[in-house]
Amino acid sequence: MTWQDVGSVDDQQPGTARRVDVSGTAVALLRTEAGWTALVDHCPHAGAPLSEGVLRDGFIVCAWHGWKFDVATGACPLFKNAPSARPVEVRVEAGRVLVGTACRAD
Ligand code: FES
Repeated sequence: MTWQDVGSVDDQQPGTARRVDVSGTAVALLRTEAGWTALVDHCPHAGAPLSEGVLRDGFIVCAWHGWKFDVATGACPLFKNAPSARPVEVRVEAGRVLVGTACRAD
């Protein structure tokens, strides 16, 4: 795993999502009150950018049709066998946000 610096922790407030490019992959970087997570920026329903969704109670709610995904695992709890969003590793080091360049679930 290699890591890409995507900015300072001060660049993004809690409760927000933003799109970052990580080695050519669009990633939705999510900051909740609990910390940082990331998902590939592609809703498995119809392809919306998850970074344009709304963070609510540990889920990112897709802006297009309202499906929601666990910010940590990408799991969708709405119905049995719902497709999941793909999680991406994130860590914070010395005030910098680092995103893994390999997805956890390819
Ligand atoms: S594209 Fe995300 S819910 Fe439809």
